[in-house]
Amino acid sequence: MSFRSVFIAVVIAFGLIVAGFLINRARPRVETEQPTEALVRASGKCAECHVRQQYSVVHEYEMSVHAQKSINCLDCHQPAQNQKGQEHHGFVIVTKLTAGNCRSCHEGIYQEFVRSRHAAVSWAAVYGEQGLKPEQVAFSEQYQPGGVKGRAPHPFVTLEGVSAMTSGCDQCHSIGRPNDDGTIGTCTACHSRHTASVELARLPTTCAQCHMGPDHSQIEIYEESKHGVMFHAQESLLNLKVAPKQLTTKDMFVPTCATCHMSGINGLKVTHDPSERLSWFLAAPISQKRPNYAQTQTAMKQVCTQCHTTPLIDRVYAQAEKVVETTNSRVQQAQEIVTSLQKSGTLTGKPFTHPIDFVYFDLWHYDGRTSKHGAFMGGADFVQWHGNYPMLQKMVQLRSMAEELRKQPRGRAAQSGAGQ
Ligand code: HEC
Ligand code: HEC
Ligand code: HEC
Ligand code: HEC
Ligand code: HEC
Ligand code: HEC
Ligand code: HEC
Ligand code: HEC
Repeated sequence: MSFRSVFIAVVIAFGLIVAGFLINRARPRVETEQPTEALVRASGKCAECHVRQQYSVVHEYEMSVHAQKSINCLDCHQPAQNQKGQEHHGFVIVTKLTAGNCRSCHEGIYQEFVRSRHAAVSWAAVYGEQGLKPEQVAFSEQYQPGGVKGRAPHPFVTLEGVSAMTSGCDQCHSIGRPNDDGTIGTCTACHSRHTASVELARLPTTCAQCHMGPDHSQIEIYEESKHGVMFHAQESLLNLKVAPKQLTTKDMFVPTCATCHMSGINGLKVTHDPSERLSWFLAAPISQKRPNYAQTQTAMKQVCTQCHTTPLIDRVYAQAEKVVETTNSRVQQAQEIVTSLQKSGTLTGKPFTHPIDFVYFDLWHYDGRTSKHGAFMGGADFVQWHGNYPMLQKMVQLRSMAEELRKQPRGRAAQSGAGQ
């Protein structure tokens, strides 16, 4: 062979190798990476296909405690009680999962969750009893009296319509939706589908998916509070992964939403029912003490005691309860203005058909609630500039609107709001 043909052959061979390398490098990373033997086995063969299709899903699972404990994909995706499976590449799986798919292994937690207001009551806040079975209503009433029974759908369901409900209210309130399999709600709102971690559930941003905005400004209040500030400053020093029963103040020396409302820090009882530590119905227009006021308040104060002294805790509660008292009396005055207009026939018609309905609603639903929540959770600006100040302003507005209405000939008020 001549030197020339050897040279050409070498150049071509080298060129082919380089081209092959470049082409391979241009392929997406996930496609070049085959799942490892171990992962395929751990996932029960599902990862074989899905790591290429939805890398993210498989990777989230791979990092979870479930994967460590040999819980595989099918353990969750197999049909649970009262669920209908479908054929899927040699497996029988379900694609719509509910709390029922977690319940099979976490029954005790499911039982605490269904007693909570995150379950049937959350659903009933929007849709009333509609969709709930009589036994589900009866069960919820044992733990959350008046939360579901006899409740009608919220007026906004008809006023705002289906699309607003589906992409709005439902996204938060379906945490307690009734499922076709007879279970209630979903666990993934706080744990996600494939991460299933306590670390995620302990982050304030997880609760803030729903607990935000002027009507329930818990995340905004937390961010203002010393607790929120310290959390951001020291997050990297906290150990958020510790198993609940082992969690101490050495792991979490700054509280998040979960610490106060759910965790069992330093050996306290962990709970999936946040009501166990709440002594007031703060979300109500006029807040009443809960039936188990003393017991639940002691339970929350016990959490504070893990990090604080009794005088500090008692001061916070005493001041906050004063805010509840004054907010109650302001909302009461506003309510009396509206009911007297209704009684005298000056204000008639359906709810939310006259501007005055909105001023009154915002007064208690935004400003009143915010001031009460701010007082208990360390949000001074929310007690004042997002709470008491707008309440004062709306009270003046309400009085002047009421005066205007009384000057109008009878029936006018109703007519101006007609057409809804
Ligand atoms: C032979 C390949 C293969 C195997 C093995 C496999 N899947 Fe799939 N899976 C697919 C394909 C393809 C789709 C359709 C994806 C799409 O529609 O984009 C899919 C879709 C799904 C969906 C979504 C279906 C929907 O309608 O929403 C789920 C959930 C799922 N698979 C779970 C599993 C589980 C759990 C296992 C193991 C028990 C598994 N898969 C095994 C290929 C596979
Ligand atoms: C802890 C329980 C659990 C495990 C384990 C689990 N899944 Fe899922 N998976 C869920 C839930 C819950 C959903 C949401 C279903 C729904 O929308 O109702 C879901 C949804 C999915 C979807 C549709 C996701 C999308 O975003 O379109 C796929 C695909 C899927 N799982 C595949 C897998 C595979 C593959 C594995 C194993 C590597 C796995 N799952 C392990 C609970 C689990
Ligand atoms: C087949 C049984 C099984 C199913 C189904 C199951 N789990 Fe688990 N889960 C376990 C086991 C086992 C552990 C580890 C518990 C331990 O080590 O104490 C665990 C742990 C957890 C943890 C704690 C993780 C951590 O960071 O410490 C969470 C949260 C969790 N599961 C949520 C869920 C959710 C949500 C579902 C349903 C979508 C679900 N599980 C379905 C068996 C299961
Ligand atoms: C961003 C999430 C989110 C959306 C969207 C949302 N809510 Fe809520 N809702 C909550 C949270 C969180 C609470 C708890 C407030 C508290 O306890 O401070 C709540 C409380 C309530 C309450 C008072 C609790 C009760 O049981 O009486 C009612 C009523 C209510 N919501 C109805 C609705 C309706 C109707 C819609 C849609 C028009 C809606 N919500 C949209 C998150 C949401
Ligand atoms: C998917 C939305 C959603 C997420 C996520 C969520 N919540 Fe809620 N939460 C609600 C709704 C809706 C209500 C109102 C229930 C009712 O009274 O109708 C509520 C009510 C509450 C209440 C008041 C319960 C009572 O008895 O009045 C507390 C406390 C609470 N949530 C704490 C938390 C904490 C802590 C987290 C995070 C670990 C969290 N929530 C995550 C939707 C959510
Ligand atoms: C409102 C948010 C929220 C919802 C909804 C929720 N969890 Fe949790 N879960 C948490 C928090 C927060 C923790 C960690 C408590 C702590 O800090 O010790 C936790 C802890 C857990 C653990 C670990 C418990 C242990 O002792 O190891 C499991 C398992 C679990 N949840 C399963 C579930 C299941 C199953 C459901 C549905 C029935 C569910 N969770 C619904 C917030 C939630
Ligand atoms: C330092 C402890 C602490 C932290 C942190 C904390 N809360 Fe609270 N929270 C309280 C106290 C105390 C109350 C009032 C208790 C009562 O009624 O006795 C309260 C009340 C509430 C309520 C009102 C329930 C009702 O009656 O309407 C909700 C909802 C709530 N918190 C959610 C959250 C969320 C979400 C976060 C995080 C963004 C959070 N909390 C952070 C201590 C805390
Ligand atoms: C896990 C520990 C922990 C828990 C639980 C906890 N706190 Fe705190 N709290 C802290 C830390 C840390 C600070 C900042 C301390 C400092 O400035 O030295 C703080 C600060 C405060 C402050 C501000 C003090 C000031 O003047 O700056 C108040 C008020 C407060 N907490 C009230 C409460 C109440 C009420 C509870 C229970 C509902 C509670 N805390 C639960 C850790 C905690």
